[in-house]
Amino acid sequence: MEEGSNIDLSFVQRQFLACTPINKLRWNNFSNDTTTEIIAAMNPEMQKKILQKTVNTELVKKYPIKRSYQKAFLKQLINELEKHCHEVHDEVYSTYCALVSSDDGESSTQYRHFLYDENSTCTNAITLQESVSIVSLGTTGLCTWQAGLGLAEWCMENKEILRGRTILELGCGVGLTGLAIIRSCAPKEYIFSDYHPAVLTMLCSNILINFPTANDSLSNCHKDESNINLKMHCNGVNIDVRCLPWEKINDGSNRTACTPVGAEIILAADVLYDDSCFHSLASALKHLLGINGTYAVVAATIRNADTISKFTEILEAYDLVYHEMKLPERKHFIRTDDTPIRLMKIVKSSFTANDDNVKL
Ligand SMILES: C[S@@+](CC[C@H](N)C(=O)[O-])C[C@H]1O[C@@H](n2cnc3c(N)ncnc32)[C@H](O)[C@@H]1O
Repeated sequence: MEEGSNIDLSFVQRQFLACTPINKLRWNNFSNDTTTEIIAAMNPEMQKKILQKTVNTELVKKYPIKRSYQKAFLKQLINELEKHCHEVHDEVYSTYCALVSSDDGESSTQYRHFLYDENSTCTNAITLQESVSIVSLGTTGLCTWQAGLGLAEWCMENKEILRGRTILELGCGVGLTGLAIIRSCAPKEYIFSDYHPAVLTMLCSNILINFPTANDSLSNCHKDESNINLKMHCNGVNIDVRCLPWEKINDGSNRTACTPVGAEIILAADVLYDDSCFHSLASALKHLLGINGTYAVVAATIRNADTISKFTEILEAYDLVYHEMKLPERKHFIRTDDTPIRLMKIVKSSFTANDDNVKL
């Protein structure tokens, strides 16, 4: 919190870097101060600090967030200041004008940056390249979903469960959950998997943005369109990227060679939206959870509760049971959306869900 003001610059920065929708942006994390009181604290000096923490950070210059978002952020700031008859710092106007005049069309990809705790700085942000559209190239996997953030939050609150483990993530998308775990939960091995070539390609580039030295240990590199299989070592963690369609995990075809054996914990976020895939996902889980007490933690954004129920209803047919888990309060990641998230632990019906002291 800036001395003598009710503006929390770090909080503003975390929201900006994660592209929190402009209508949900708040100037601090706690008070009920009205906008008038907050804007009153925005003297020109404070406005300059806001610029330095947002549009003008080195991180944004190197990996730009969506230009239209940067413009909307500054426009909102200028509007509020003008509405309350406050002087607008010249640099705020000039930065806004530069963004408007450099408008040579929006790129199809953008970066977002996640500062995953209050004390984190731009130097240890998780930076992700994403598509600007929710669905692009026929996949939902090119941007980060709320349940991915929720699952990362749960993992960071349960580090001791993940430490030293081999973890397999299904439908990993562009990598937020896995990158957060590799950064802060010290697993032995992290296996990212997805089935879409464009998703896997963007994921690989995100791993290298966040762990540039992983490039030095890149090995086992088959990288044709349908069979990406990369291995690298970074931050003390073996990182593996696999093309793993759920349909192929348990179908007895040659592709099962890609199915990792020995994963102790299976993770998946925001994979329960298309019920035509539910049987293949449940069948894959049945296969993967076959070994001693292995369990899955699945996070689902509740857009349509009935769709998720369809999935839980078919689990019994695959000898699986689920247990609802408590989603921790948001501590690490900024919430950019209020849609509720359901978190489930899934195990073989012959095991009990409490085996691993997972906080239910
Ligand atoms: C909504 S996205 C979620 C991405 C990421 N987990 C997140 O939370 O941000 C769903 C992901 O599941 C992947 N997916 C969908 N069907 C799949 C299948 N049959 N086999 C493997 N991956 C699949 C998609 O490619 C996509 O990356």
